[in-house]
Amino acid sequence: LTACRRLQSSLKPHPLCARSSSSPGATAGMSEQNTPSSDQALYQAPPSVRGMTVLDREAFTQTVTVPALLVPTGLVNRALKSLKKLTLQRPGVKRVVEEEGCGETHKLVLLDPRVSSLDAIAGTGLQDLGVASEIRHFALRLTYDNLRSEEVLRAVLPDGHDVTSGFSRVGHIAHMNLRDHQLPYRNLIGQVIMDKNPGVTCVVNKTNSIDSTYRHFSMELLAGEDNMVAKVRENGLLYEFDFSRVYWNPRLSTEHERIVSQLRREDVVVDVFAGVGPFAVPAARRGCAVFANDLNPESFRWLQHNSRINKVTDKVTAFNLDGRDFIRGPVRDLLPDLLRAKTSVHVVMNLPALAIDFLDSFRGLLAHEPGVGVACEGTLPRVHCYSFSKDDAPQRDVVRRAAASLGAELDGVCSVHMVRNVAPNKEMLCVSFTLPKEVVFSDTHPSSGEKHTHFLRFTLYHTIFIYKAL
Ligand SMILES: C[S@@+](CC[C@H](N)C(=O)[O-])C[C@H]1O[C@@H](n2cnc3c(N)ncnc32)[C@H](O)[C@@H]1O
Repeated sequence: LTACRRLQSSLKPHPLCARSSSSPGATAGMSEQNTPSSDQALYQAPPSVRGMTVLDREAFTQTVTVPALLVPTGLVNRALKSLKKLTLQRPGVKRVVEEEGCGETHKLVLLDPRVSSLDAIAGTGLQDLGVASEIRHFALRLTYDNLRSEEVLRAVLPDGHDVTSGFSRVGHIAHMNLRDHQLPYRNLIGQVIMDKNPGVTCVVNKTNSIDSTYRHFSMELLAGEDNMVAKVRENGLLYEFDFSRVYWNPRLSTEHERIVSQLRREDVVVDVFAGVGPFAVPAARRGCAVFANDLNPESFRWLQHNSRINKVTDKVTAFNLDGRDFIRGPVRDLLPDLLRAKTSVHVVMNLPALAIDFLDSFRGLLAHEPGVGVACEGTLPRVHCYSFSKDDAPQRDVVRRAAASLGAELDGVCSVHMVRNVAPNKEMLCVSFTLPKEVVFSDTHPSSGEKHTHFLRFTLYHTIFIYKAL
């Protein structure tokens, strides 16, 4: 600041300019306060915008002062190249401007507000060309369009309040998680996010915690169109779904890719908690036969839709069942033939809050087919089961809980992958293992009534068989 003030007082008008930066016109509105010293100081919002809840874009217009170099027109490109990041970087602001009275011979190159003396440009070689003999100042009209969302929000929200405006992007939807103190400004925040992020036409706020069963959020519209049907691309494939009614997390794309990359085209995939298909659809595109299930009727519908738009309906069979019923129904019916044929089966279980509890569904799953056990040595399904953990040793924690639910030791025969840090002290992990033979063929199952279910299935199949025969 001191250097800048010293420079200001020593500014001399350029002989070619009728109006110099030190003339009253060019420095109009310049004060101690908005003398450039840092990028933050570039924009000091008018006090009138503080506390605004309905966005008035005009109220943000202000004239600020930025440093500039007077450069002969023929050397402007050379100067821009040499100055690189030392020039002013602002959305929608031209870095090269006319200086009144200089005609066509010279232009002003606007500099980053942090450039307060000629020292900053010493290494650029411009002084050797004789173009940078002094730092001038330029009165720049900044409008709402030239401000970043953080600057607008910092100006509006009560002084000292956190203005974090991060969001997840799901197609045209920006999904925010506002804090209590931001709620009075929520519609304005939504509008600013929409204005500043091309392609965002709808901003929503998470209103409470994730829906416990179907894992989707309750949300309120903050700004833009009330259209929750999103179109997103993930790993090269297209997905469409109603974001207000199904689960979708853009942070899982790497994990989806990680699992799918392990598949060979002749493998079979069983997706117990499939959502709208981010494992199932790419697996099918890879050539695998996929049996995908979700309890949420909306997810089931969009899963079928996504299979259609990605042209894999012949590969994906969709179910709308509880995960346990899916495993102990269609999956149990499929497995014997797959295992006899020595097909590799991957079972994906991505319901991190609960999936481990579903592992007991595999106990005694093929107890009624003891013969298969001999044939399928070494080719039992490989399970990829997700879980959250808040434990100090999350890997050990998920392996211990998975083993307890399964009723078999997993130490040394499983691998654990850290998927992501969900919150401070909360990890999401994936434990992968081949289903132990003694689990699948054991003749005990924790749920009572199992024999009854067997009997019902047996009766049902025979009824269908007799009916068909007739
Ligand atoms: C965390 S999401 C995962 C979706 C998808 N696999 C993904 O990776 O994005 C879990 C899914 O499980 C479904 N779900 C919840 N409880 C279920 C249950 N008991 N049986 C089957 N699906 C269930 C939810 O509807 C949700 O779509």
